[in-house]
Amino acid sequence: MKAKIKADREKIISKIDDRLYGSFIEHLGRAVYNGIYEPTHETADDMGFRQDVMDTIRDMKVPLVRYPGGNFVSGYHWEDGTGDKAKRPKRMELAWSSIETNEVGIDEFQEWAKRVDTEIMMAVNLGTRGPEEAGNLVEYCNSVTDTKYANMRRENGFDKPFGIRTWCLGNEMDGPWQIGHKTPQEYARTACEAAKIMKWTDDSIELVACGSSHLNMETFGEWEETVLREAYDHIDYLSLHNYYGNPDNDTPGYLGCSLDMDSFITQVVAICDKIQKEKNSEKSIHLSFDEWNVWFHSSEQDKKIPKWQVAPPLLEDIYNMEDALVVGCLLNTLIKHSDRVKIACLAQLVNVIAPIMTVNDGKVWLQTIFYPYMYACRYGRGEALKTEVECETYAAGGKEAIPYVDCSMVWNEKEKELTLFAVNRNLEDAVELALEIQGFGEWELREHCLLNHEDMKAVNSPEKPDVVAPKEGSGVMGNTVALEPHSYNMLRFGVK
Ligand code: AHR
Repeated sequence: MKAKIKADREKIISKIDDRLYGSFIEHLGRAVYNGIYEPTHETADDMGFRQDVMDTIRDMKVPLVRYPGGNFVSGYHWEDGTGDKAKRPKRMELAWSSIETNEVGIDEFQEWAKRVDTEIMMAVNLGTRGPEEAGNLVEYCNSVTDTKYANMRRENGFDKPFGIRTWCLGNEMDGPWQIGHKTPQEYARTACEAAKIMKWTDDSIELVACGSSHLNMETFGEWEETVLREAYDHIDYLSLHNYYGNPDNDTPGYLGCSLDMDSFITQVVAICDKIQKEKNSEKSIHLSFDEWNVWFHSSEQDKKIPKWQVAPPLLEDIYNMEDALVVGCLLNTLIKHSDRVKIACLAQLVNVIAPIMTVNDGKVWLQTIFYPYMYACRYGRGEALKTEVECETYAAGGKEAIPYVDCSMVWNEKEKELTLFAVNRNLEDAVELALEIQGFGEWELREHCLLNHEDMKAVNSPEKPDVVAPKEGSGVMGNTVALEPHSYNMLRFGVK
């Protein structure tokens, strides 16, 4: 099968915000305890953080990590995770029916974030708590004043503020499963008042208001409009969350699910722009797709996990080859919307629906989805180019026209590097992709990384961690790249 991609140096979607390649660590399952933190592990550092995990995350160059939830945050008392560890309470954690020991809190997590060279995106509890406690947390983290919460931070050993720039106003407050679930009006009022207090405490922060928990929420649309009408002047971003899956084992249809992400983003952008017009405002609201991933493999096994454990193995999806293709397409979609999507978080980072897995007291191993995410983190920085792809389409999963080839291109001026991310959704045939790249002069291939496996259900495991791992692709012949059937490809070109 033949296809063509056209790109032009002059046709740019946007400068990509590095935070587009963010991720997420929640106090859930083995993400924190036995994930990033395991004081008895042979690689544990002076604070109990696993250095094997830290090295992996640092090498990937993850720019931002959302913390501490997720559903967890809606019942969380942030003060529990500060100060003397011996005095911290153990609590019944109601979002995931687990025991929270509070051995790790913001005091430790901000240090972990520094050590892996990432930025924190902090969420506040607007479920069981409200604007006042949210403001107090901003003061604790960011303030230099001689006042109660900034002094509490100093007493806990942190003279310098943490300087957290990006904040979420609660989590999935539209969801009936959420602790402290709210109607659109209730949330809009609370978020607006929390936003005012938080920005009065530190006017340099940026705020993300909750949008819908997924595209099919009953309140989708009404929720966004109500929140924007109420809080427009006080917020900077509106969030989107969505998880994808293949429960019916319809692989061709599943591979097209990035079209749903595309449609979700387009619809939310339209709502933001409608309210901007209504308000006659100069300010555009940008989007934060702060939870996205594949999540369905672990749903049944999770029902059997007993309640009230510390670090139960919850949400441990084991990802296969086709999930890696889907994650590649979802990343392409985010890049193609980088004019409006400024922040996005692959949910999550370690053990919980995660690219990185750990064995308790054992090794780190990488899931199939690690690779497309890692390549985007490393090589997706710069400007997103408009790409015009000419290729055949197919009908599946209720969609009439899914393009066989899904691409995005990024130009990194500093590295003089052009990167092509390309997925071939065709399960049978290779695609000869002709490159028509204008405005860059001469270029040469630096690297073609190929992720593929004959079995779309192939997975990695601690025992066999390299079943699905990147190999060298066949590169470029003339101006054409051969994309193997059902393959993910990352090609870097040096530009003279
Ligand atoms: O990422 C897992 C959960 O998914 C998060 O806690 C919640 O926000 C979402 O429903």
